[in-house]
Amino acid sequence: MVEPKVPTRPEALELLHRFNESDSLRKHAYAVEGVMRYMARKRGQDEDKWGIIGLIHDLDYEKFPAQHCVKTKEMLEEEGWPAEYVRAAVSHGWGICSDIEPQTDLEKALYALDELTGLVVTTALIRPSKSVLDVQVKSVKNKWKDKRFAAGVDRAVIEKGAAMLGITLDELIDETIKGMQEVAEAIGLKGNPT
Ligand SMILES: [Fe+2]
Ligand SMILES: [Fe+2]
Repeated sequence: MVEPKVPTRPEALELLHRFNESDSLRKHAYAVEGVMRYMARKRGQDEDKWGIIGLIHDLDYEKFPAQHCVKTKEMLEEEGWPAEYVRAAVSHGWGICSDIEPQTDLEKALYALDELTGLVVTTALIRPSKSVLDVQVKSVKNKWKDKRFAAGVDRAVIEKGAAMLGITLDELIDETIKGMQEVAEAIGLKGNPT
């Protein structure tokens, strides 16, 4: 059997754009990619692989929201993507739209940070600067128990993800903020620093 070739970032980006026209879905993909890259680098892992999987993890969401994860698997397989990448992408929906449990650090990181990026976005948007560059761990923690704030964000999934990764919630929030700060411009959260 021929080994499938390793997908490149331009290929991942082309796929993302082909199937996701929504600006907010694209920005979510860039945010998740940014944090995955940051976390990979910090752990001495393959930054490109982590980032690429982050970029396409919600590939099917715009066109097939009711078949989330299931369709991503089909789409990536059709593109000839390696099983490792497909599995990792699908595992982010563990217990929600997939029964693939995150096993590797890459998969656990994706599972842990996906929802958290949404909470960081909302936290940035209520700041006068509307900039992720101003967001601190404590600003996110302050909103943790306020269930009406970013109500769609499942805090329990994030807490479970941090525990799976073997880091504290504060460490996970810190890494997520820093990863998103690296892509602040791409995700539209650079604000207007004075
Ligand atoms: Fe998802
Ligand atoms: Fe996502």
